[in-house]
Amino acid sequence: PKNASIFSMIQPTGEFHLGNYLGATRVWKDLCTLKSSSQRLTFGVADLHAITIPKPNTTKFRKYRIEAIASILSVGVDPSKASVMYQSSIPQQTQLHWLLSTLASMGYLNRMTQWKSKSNIKDGSVDSDAIGKVRLGLFAYPVLQAADILTYKATHVPVGDDQTQHLELTRHLAEQFNHLYKKRVFPLPKTILAPTKKILSLSSPEKKMSKSDPNQDALIYLNDEPEIIAKKIKKAVTDSISDHFEYDPVNRPGVSNLINIISGIQRKSIGEVEKDIARFRNYSDFKGYVTENVVEELSGPRNMFKRFINEPEYLDSVIKKGSEEASEVAEKNIKEIMNIMGF
Ligand code: ADP
Ligand code: NA
Repeated sequence: PKNASIFSMIQPTGEFHLGNYLGATRVWKDLCTLKSSSQRLTFGVADLHAITIPKPNTTKFRKYRIEAIASILSVGVDPSKASVMYQSSIPQQTQLHWLLSTLASMGYLNRMTQWKSKSNIKDGSVDSDAIGKVRLGLFAYPVLQAADILTYKATHVPVGDDQTQHLELTRHLAEQFNHLYKKRVFPLPKTILAPTKKILSLSSPEKKMSKSDPNQDALIYLNDEPEIIAKKIKKAVTDSISDHFEYDPVNRPGVSNLINIISGIQRKSIGEVEKDIARFRNYSDFKGYVTENVVEELSGPRNMFKRFINEPEYLDSVIKKGSEEASEVAEKNIKEIMNIMGF
């Protein structure tokens, strides 16, 4: 779309994995390729969100923060087309978080599922004891996310489908603000849903592949060596039907996840992939094919990552330029927003 402000972020809570790639960073790269001159692209590392985990580790955090920048660039996000920055470098986002928190209702936030899953609380069994232990930052996480997006008056937000709820809250807050102050300050940001469905854990295909999963076998990291990728896919949980492979997420979640991975990498529909893999009669051949596809797709990003992570000055220059560009927009918008609010 023309005159679009496209914004998205990713947390530096661990090494990036295949889900982050197909659900987020490869889409960002595609948006750079398609960018027209009337569009603005802003891609950030959500370092303030990352400290909502239970036990932050400063050494790891420092490492993951800079690696996140290298990972974003390694997949082909072009810093001459997109502003790449840290969330914490743009204080206006945190400022807007406070302003929006005066509108956000506890009831609405209470219905969000992420703070529950991250606190190991089952939806529907939220008692006062459980709520009592949840920290404000984790509970308010989606409000900061809304503030990030609205700071840039984003019109489009490319994310994976695990973020749908948070985008709804963002639109809700934008509407509330516009209504309360009787001015159309914020456009209602549209979700650009990644073409690939959510990638699931290789070990427990009932949950998503996530950086915060302590089980290393559950994830394929973008920087895994080919032998490691082969080993993880070999171990991937599937089922006992071993002479044909079809997409059936309810009954065959493990197999379906592998098919979804191929579909994402090859940019083919699930149906097309099913036809391509109809020839396989055992897991060894099917998983070998999955491995080949993943290894080949990730070899470019893996090599580029190794290069970028050894060029700290280059990374710093990208961050500096990205922060300056983002700051310019953020300063202008927050000034307008506060002015409208009577400051
Ligand atoms: P994580 O859960 O791995 O920490 P983030 O919360 O940082 O990931 O999300 C960053 C982006 O990656 C978001 O756009 C999110 O939708 C996408 N994403 C995360 N996990 C997956 C997954 N398993 N499959 C597809 N997209 C994903
Ligand atoms: Na997440």
